Amino acid sequence: MSTVKQISLTLNGEPKTFETTADETLVDLLRRHGYRGTKTGCYEGACGACTVILDGRAVYGCLLRAFQAHGRDVQTIEGAGSFDDPHPVQRALVDEGAVQCGFCTPGMVLSAKALLDETPHPGSDTIKEHMDGNLCRCTGYEKIRVAVEKVAASTAMP
Ligand code: FES
Ligand code: FES
Repeated sequence: MSTVKQISLTLNGEPKTFETTADETLVDLLRRHGYRGTKTGCYEGACGACTVILDGRAVYGCLLRAFQAHGRDVQTIEGAGSFDDPHPVQRALVDEGAVQCGFCTPGMVLSAKALLDETPHPGSDTIKEHMDGNLCRCTGYEKIRVAVEKVAASTAMP
């Protein structure tokens, strides 16, 4: 049986402490604590449903053990925006009709957010390349690409 250890991290801007085991993935720890916007799909780094932002970079939460987030900064979709105050990418996805079942959407939003936080006005090729690891079974990607490009082209990022 795995030993339980305590980890501390910054989660959506707030200091948090959690108990975890050596084999628990980051996405499982987050979901176990109610951060269920982060989805689980393949558990093998192929779908992007579990995308979170770790120290500013979009990563697959299924490929990280929770203890690897100790001392680091983690953002989940719960910290990206709210119903009343959505992140610009969330708003753009809705405006463009780029959300269908919604399963991929949290990962898409965080992947785009990580890119736009680092590079506010990326070109189309950069967007495509960056979001290559986030799969969507519903939308055909075009509307998602248009939505992210619209945000990238706007001058008023928060
Ligand atoms: S569940 Fe992590 S990449 Fe698919
Ligand atoms: S909207 Fe259904 S998987 Fe993307």
